[in-house]
Amino acid sequence: MTKREQWSSKTGFILAAAGSAVGLGNIWKFPYIAGENGGAAFLFIYLICILAIGLPILNVEILLGRETQKNPVGAFKAIHGDNSNWKYVGALGVFASFTILSFYSIVGGWSVAYTIEALKGTFASFPNPEVAGEFFNLKNSNPYWVLGYHTIFFLSIIGIILSGVKGGLEKASKFLMPVLLLILFALVVNGLMLPDSDKGMEFLFSPDWSKINPSTFLLALGHAFFTLSLGMGAMMTYGSYLSDNDDIVNASYMVAFLDTVIAILAGVAIFTVVFSSGYDPTAGPGLVFHVLPPLLAQLPGGYIFAFLFFLLLTIAAVTSGISILEVSVSYLVDELKFSRKKATMIMGALVYLAAIPCALSFNLLSDATIPIQGKAFTFFDVADFLASNILLPLGGFFIAIFAGYVWSIDSTVKALLKGNSESLYFGNSILNSSTSKTIFGLLIKYLSPVLIFLVFLYQFGWI
Ligand code: PHE
Repeated sequence: MTKREQWSSKTGFILAAAGSAVGLGNIWKFPYIAGENGGAAFLFIYLICILAIGLPILNVEILLGRETQKNPVGAFKAIHGDNSNWKYVGALGVFASFTILSFYSIVGGWSVAYTIEALKGTFASFPNPEVAGEFFNLKNSNPYWVLGYHTIFFLSIIGIILSGVKGGLEKASKFLMPVLLLILFALVVNGLMLPDSDKGMEFLFSPDWSKINPSTFLLALGHAFFTLSLGMGAMMTYGSYLSDNDDIVNASYMVAFLDTVIAILAGVAIFTVVFSSGYDPTAGPGLVFHVLPPLLAQLPGGYIFAFLFFLLLTIAAVTSGISILEVSVSYLVDELKFSRKKATMIMGALVYLAAIPCALSFNLLSDATIPIQGKAFTFFDVADFLASNILLPLGGFFIAIFAGYVWSIDSTVKALLKGNSESLYFGNSILNSSTSKTIFGLLIKYLSPVLIFLVFLYQFGWI
């Protein structure tokens, strides 16, 4: 048997895991759902979900991968036996990976399209977000445009997956994350200098609790899972390419920290512009594509800035997209003994087809909707809602129960500390005290499952 591929260095894993976490969720989705759900109040609940639920489950997911060196289905089987029903939790993850990628690659396609529009200099003719919004809607009314860019985005994911773990993926992440941060900083500084930028800051940081309703909790919880790539085995799969020497606790802190900082920076960059130009923060999934092009075009050096920004957004989307598809690919490779190439081709083709109704949600199928939470949901909306708000938290719930009770919290903590003994980082000292072990146990055994359960009950009107 060939040896399982591994990351070539500690930072390689952290960067790849951060590459999975940081993506459209941070720059596209966070601003638009925060915009629709009251800004600061949403941010506050979301941050609690990240700290109390996301971070502990992130540790556990990576650990399950490292311990078993397997895909999500295989990981549960390896610990709990071939006939165990826990493998269905892994299967749920494989299903979630399908659902997510079917809408994710449409937004990835938009990013590719906007990179090209930036190169063509289109944004210079956008005086404000309204005009940019009309352009966005017009483009999306053409099914060939949406499908074409979805195809380009999708092919780039397939290409990188085919070349394996270390090659392009690890190398690219190393260089790109810092560049993305730099550009975001520049956008933040510019946003803050705009007139009325304080209104945007107030929207994002000063909570108005009256904006909260039952669905806000589910959205914040679902987004915490989505943005950290949790609940479907993506982090488990990446963890399966780790060796015992790696410090999972430290890596989890770094990933969660970076991911949160990038989402907040994107929020500041966008809401300062939204409020300074009097635009509607509840514009929905197109928000980033309406707001940023006119802003970027007006900056000194805006042409190159706009190009770099959308290029980086595309790359952030590609590195996340890879981790989503990798779950299904590693399942076929480990469990059904497919070659990597065959697995990638088969899963790629299936997910590509599943994405077509989502692509058509903006044009031919825009009237094919079902009502959810009092709103008309298209295929695109349903895929997003089902994956982020149902499948991922449900997966997280089972992962917490598995680590806390089935595998036992003592074995989980012991296994987590394995890689930390000679660590130069701080993960070791943080988890190694009895207080933090107790806190970790409480979070995994009680708080996470109970909160997820309550949010579901509340959302569906049972309490
Ligand atoms: N975390 C990614 C983002 O924020 C999306 C993702 C979800 C990736 C689930 C993997 C698994 O864009």
